[in-house]
Amino acid sequence: MRIAVVGLGYVGLVQAACLADAGHRVSGVESDEARLRLLLGGETPFYEPGLSELVRRALDRGGLRITSEIDVAVCQSEVVFLTVGTPPRADGSSNLDALFEAGEALAAGASSALLVAVKSTVPVGTCDDLESAMRRRADARVDVVANPEFLAQGRAIADFREPRRVVLGSTSEAALEPLLALYRPFVESGSGRLVVIDRRSAELAKYAANGALALRVSMINEYARLCDAVGADIEEVRQVLASDPRIGPHFLEAGLGFGGSCLPKDITSLLHQARAADCEMPLVEALYAVNQGQRTRLAELAVEAFGDELSGRRFAVWGLAFKPGSDDLRESPAILTIDELLRRGARLTLYDPAALDNARALYGGRVDYASTALSALEGAEALLLCTAWPELAQLSLSAIAERISTPERNTPPYLFDGRNLFDPVEAGRAGLVYRGVGRGRAFPSG
Ligand code: UGA
Repeated sequence: MRIAVVGLGYVGLVQAACLADAGHRVSGVESDEARLRLLLGGETPFYEPGLSELVRRALDRGGLRITSEIDVAVCQSEVVFLTVGTPPRADGSSNLDALFEAGEALAAGASSALLVAVKSTVPVGTCDDLESAMRRRADARVDVVANPEFLAQGRAIADFREPRRVVLGSTSEAALEPLLALYRPFVESGSGRLVVIDRRSAELAKYAANGALALRVSMINEYARLCDAVGADIEEVRQVLASDPRIGPHFLEAGLGFGGSCLPKDITSLLHQARAADCEMPLVEALYAVNQGQRTRLAELAVEAFGDELSGRRFAVWGLAFKPGSDDLRESPAILTIDELLRRGARLTLYDPAALDNARALYGGRVDYASTALSALEGAEALLLCTAWPELAQLSLSAIAERISTPERNTPPYLFDGRNLFDPVEAGRAGLVYRGVGRGRAFPSG
């Protein structure tokens, strides 16, 4: 099939590369000059396991063509996916300028029927508005289908190739038919489902899905607070929850809350939409507030241990990305933790397996950087762990303890584990003072 993907950010590039790899002829459109230059040179602008190899292969074989323009090939594609960004505005609403600009450009260039699938996360009613705007502009027929994206960073290629579900929001059989044909082989290769529903429900389902994940994260973090207050262990509580199939094990990891470019912005957009529709969503308000408090929990624990004033103290921070398998710092709890520690005068050495370059761009000379996890600990009085990179869990607790012991300062070596990656009892045996999230029972006295 001839396919176009407009917007080669995270979602678009995965979509374009995976479809080209499956044998389709894909035109990828990117308007950002820096990103375009990288892509034309065969490089991927962000880290996602397996993606750069896939993009390079698609470019070499000619299945993927990259352009800066919505040109004839794009307008004459059998399906055009819109995967442009819909970033949050200051009031929490979604900025839809890029989406409507792309839609108008497509409509203006269309000489035959145009089928547009919107993968960008958009407020309910956006596809209706976009279709009307494009129909006013185009000489040919335009159909807009809502096709929300459910890829998670770090496992996006697997999520695309074997989706849990593909949602298509439309009541037009003519519009649905090519999309069903395109997605069916992917859905059938896994155990997922094709779900065809109306357009507004499809738009809302995306927010509801991310809202449900966010709710679970805030729920477990709220119980973690209670565990600390009453002397229980959230990891033991979690085992009990996860063993009930009605609850299940996923998204119950206590930690520093949810970050990234999706969950936080989707929650604020959802609340904005609800307010505009005069509908209260107290549960969503509450899960958001819980998360806001949770993101600085580790800085709070450090202040409890070292006092308000941190000038002259050096700490190591492991894990900067909002989650493992990503180099994305957007809304990362690590960034809020670092900002709070810097505000209190601490000196920091940062380490992350993938996100150090992005951290350098953000902090420049205000912090130090280490090329290995253990070397970040030299001269530090405490380690703060913000992202659950699995390779960090493999490091020896005694090697950690040795490096952060600072007898001349009279403080014990602290490990503040913001993702409960280490075992508190083993950490204690290695000579560390362990503070996790909700591990009150497991290591009560410190
Ligand atoms: C999320 C959804 O999982 C995807 O299904 C969706 O397609 C995507 O947003 C999107 O809207 O595009 P992603 O942002 O990549 O994907 O990250 P998640 O894996 O959902 O994690 C989000 C945050 O929650 C991370 O900061 C993670 O550390 C945190 N989290 C997750 C927890 O604190 N505890 C958990 O148990 C799980």
